[in-house]
Amino acid sequence: MKRSEWDSLHRGDINRLTVEIHRRAWKARPEVRHIRMGGQDAVVKDYGREANIFKHLLGIFLVAREAAALRRAEGLPHIARVLGRPRLWIIVIEYLPGKPVTEVEPGALDVTYFDELERLVDNLHIRGVAHGDLEKLDNILVMDDGSPAVVDFAAAIMPGLNPLAALALPHVCANDYRAIAKLKERVAPELLSEKERRRLHYRTPAELWFRRIRTYIRDRVKRMAAGATERGASPGN
Ligand SMILES: Nc1ncnc2c1ncn2[C@@H]1O[C@H](COP(=O)(O)OP(=O)(O)OP(=O)(O)O)[C@@H](O)[C@H]1O
Ligand SMILES: [Mg+2]
Repeated sequence: MKRSEWDSLHRGDINRLTVEIHRRAWKARPEVRHIRMGGQDAVVKDYGREANIFKHLLGIFLVAREAAALRRAEGLPHIARVLGRPRLWIIVIEYLPGKPVTEVEPGALDVTYFDELERLVDNLHIRGVAHGDLEKLDNILVMDDGSPAVVDFAAAIMPGLNPLAALALPHVCANDYRAIAKLKERVAPELLSEKERRRLHYRTPAELWFRRIRTYIRDRVKRMAAGATERGASPGN
């Protein structure tokens, strides 16, 4: 499937090609669908469904950030490739066959899984991408072959033109590792090292401030984007 074919998808095509709706649009969140076209599977994240203008603008920003992070990480195993961007607020990415760790049996994740997940996060950081939202454990997947994958780069931090990103980067990187420790604590506490156990509940004052500011901004943004869902946006936009 050529990139241009994913880029020219319309809403009607996306509806017709849907295999499964992973998540309905809600407040500031996008609609996430698994689609299949010409035998190839993909995931469509669309911030424009049930959306007001503010959510479209937010979507443009988040899709640009997710696309930039995925492009920086391109070539790493178990990171989805960007397939297209049919609208500025819609991104189409490669489908990774698997399910979120929140849906697997406890005991299904072993030491090999966690070693690979740590290597994946190390490699992301080496590329200059801190994920920023791994604490939401449904962003960590177990692929059908048992290996780990990571999705949802809408909150990723990358040093670049924005000097604040460079300041936040070490805290966000530390948070990525803390999320892995949190997952271990939940499903395989015997695998936690002493260092991880100590890190699990410790945050530097700078990190606490960073989290407070981020939560404040996120809550405001959610409220503004939620306007459409609560008032009822125009259908089919
Ligand atoms: N590339 C992918 N391959 C397979 N499944 C995916 C992929 N991307 C997302 N998913 C599934 O869809 C779910 C929701 O996707 P995602 O986490 O990207 O959106 P979200 O959490 O709603 O977005 P946001 O955090 O930007 O509001 C994931 O938890 C995962 O189960
Ligand atoms: Mg998510």
